[in-house]
Amino acid sequence: MHLRHLLGIQGLNPVSVTAMLDLAENYVLLNRSGKTQRDLLRGRTLINLFFEDSTRTRTSFELAGKRLGADVINMSVSTSSVSKGETLLDTAATLNAMNCDLLVVRHNQSGAPALLAQKVDAAVINAGDGMHEHPTQALLDALTIRRHKGRIAGLTIAICGDIAHSRVARSNLLLLTMMGNFVRVIGPPTLIPAEIAALGVTVHHEMQEGLDGADIVMALRLQKERMTKGLVPSAREFFAFYGLSAEKLTFAKPDALVMHPGPMNRGVEIDSEVADHPTRSLIKEQVEMGVAVRMAVLDTLARRPRWNG
Ligand code: NCD
Repeated sequence: MHLRHLLGIQGLNPVSVTAMLDLAENYVLLNRSGKTQRDLLRGRTLINLFFEDSTRTRTSFELAGKRLGADVINMSVSTSSVSKGETLLDTAATLNAMNCDLLVVRHNQSGAPALLAQKVDAAVINAGDGMHEHPTQALLDALTIRRHKGRIAGLTIAICGDIAHSRVARSNLLLLTMMGNFVRVIGPPTLIPAEIAALGVTVHHEMQEGLDGADIVMALRLQKERMTKGLVPSAREFFAFYGLSAEKLTFAKPDALVMHPGPMNRGVEIDSEVADHPTRSLIKEQVEMGVAVRMAVLDTLARRPRWNG
């Protein structure tokens, strides 16, 4: 697989997704056995460049890089010169001069990682850009599903809540439809973009209808920070209509599994009883899969020698 950067699911195909998941599967086993592969990225530098807050994504990229032996540097915007007015492209030039090999970028502007990819020699990984994409989240979700359902095709997957502002929803529906699943999005009309049906998903505004026969139910956070106006009357009302409770989960298949990318707003988009369910919730496992998938992504991109363009 010749992958220069990982900017979105749009740059992948079913063969490259399967190869990435297979490689990640090996890393799951390696991580569980307590072994590390510290030689693979020895002497390589990974910079985590985060212009937005993150817990899971940043730490899992850090852990993934360290487990593979890379030198990992975390840069967050509040401590960098960007807060002093440096432009994104000046930052890129600075990072380039440091001979960074892998650049993991999170930014509140859609397209920022793609812009950086044109300006730096490093392989760029999009760790979430605005409302656009979050490809490693979609890959880790796919790995989690595949491990539980034995396949990542032919499944009915319902993505619920704030679809409009969610890069997780976008990357997931691109990946899941590409792999041959039936994807449904469920939410109030104010939180579902009108043009979404063109991406091959079906749109539902009622949980009962949308969850009917679902194998997987994904709940998403209400992304208040990206809402320019009040699109939801109140958190309490949202929970009543769209919050994933044990009662609403009965509309899905009896063995349907529950996912959430985190961070969760308990009692808003998901009820604790569902989120913490010992057998039906995959939320903790998603975090574990995140480390393995990011190791697979770093491994794949680092196979390209820096001087090879
Ligand atoms: C998501 C993100 O930042 O896009 N979180 C994550 O990476 N696990 C979703 C969110 O912020 O709600």
